[in-house]
Amino acid sequence: MKPLDIYHQYPIELISGKYSVVSDSEGKEYIDFYGGHGVISIGHSHPNFVNAITDQLDKLAFYSNAFKNSLQFKLAELLGKASGYETYDLFLSNSGAEANENALKVASFCTGRSKILAIKGAFHGRSAGAVAITDNKGIQPNFGSEMQVDFIEMNDHENLDKLLSTKDYAAFIIEGIQGVNGIWEGNADFWFAARLLCTNTGTVLIADEVQSGYGRTGKFFAHQFNKVITDVITVGKGMGNGFPVAGTLISPYLKLEKGKHGTTFGGGQLACAAAISVLETINAENQIDNAAEIGEHLLSELDKLNGVKALRGRGLMLSIEFDADAKAIRQKLINDYGFITGFSNPDILRILPPLNVSKTDAEKFLKALKSILENI
Ligand SMILES: Cc1ncc(COP(=O)(O)O)c(C=O)c1O
Repeated sequence: MKPLDIYHQYPIELISGKYSVVSDSEGKEYIDFYGGHGVISIGHSHPNFVNAITDQLDKLAFYSNAFKNSLQFKLAELLGKASGYETYDLFLSNSGAEANENALKVASFCTGRSKILAIKGAFHGRSAGAVAITDNKGIQPNFGSEMQVDFIEMNDHENLDKLLSTKDYAAFIIEGIQGVNGIWEGNADFWFAARLLCTNTGTVLIADEVQSGYGRTGKFFAHQFNKVITDVITVGKGMGNGFPVAGTLISPYLKLEKGKHGTTFGGGQLACAAAISVLETINAENQIDNAAEIGEHLLSELDKLNGVKALRGRGLMLSIEFDADAKAIRQKLINDYGFITGFSNPDILRILPPLNVSKTDAEKFLKALKSILENI
């Protein structure tokens, strides 16, 4: 047997990491401006994270949700405090797709409706429900094609108003900031209108914060820049700093009967220990402030570079478009300067470094990009 050959991969094997630096099997070091696809929040192998997981492993790695787990209560309390959603309930799972699947299920159970309204260009994951609300025919199988989903453009007030004035939809789902599609966000008026219309029609407003959450944008959740409260929020990626853990935060007004839903692995003791260490470290090291500060610095300095065509994003969730071919620039960044970056489509460079990335590393990145753009 061998792993399914389904990913486009760099022929580089990364074998160790510390904070923002990762090393390959040949001993070459890279500065990680991609965070393993937006997953690394508090830094690779942060000692708090390593100690928390190691200590928990010595005690109990896992027991199912058939028994009480006080670590889940501690995690929920910390997450409530960090996010401001203190009265919400937390359902734990293992991936962003699952967190979204669970959000859709809660919305459908609580409204009795089945249709979902989503945003064009969105990415919500690859399980049946999550991929159905992801606007990309290329990754949708026929299985699940019966799901009823309508899509509107981001910031299309007219269609938002028209469609969300009905009581047809169980939920309206929107990313805090669209990540995979290249960093696009709803404006404050759009969010405000969505909140109002959802309240009036009993539609559940879901914010997918799997990529944009956990402090990445300089606030705990990206939708909080727009001063709205949503009914359900989904989290993943940075929640576990590499340990697979995700969650669905559910308004106390949405009630689920016992036995309606469940999971085997979700909220296991190791996952909770990892997620608790992440929240404690973000807080103790003021990492959200660092994300805001370094992000602002990067945006203002990138804006001065010749050859940068467009810049979007907040904090450490940024996209850069160039006059030149972004693919070639990305290749030079990794080969010649040791910077790992992401992309959104071949034309957009996406950067998602750990939240504690240093100003020194930001300066090195700016210098590398300047030199590439001057010589391309
Ligand atoms: C906004 C958003 N939602 C959901 C997902 C799916 O998360 P996962 O790959 O953990 O299932 C992603 C993954 O990139 C994402 O960016």
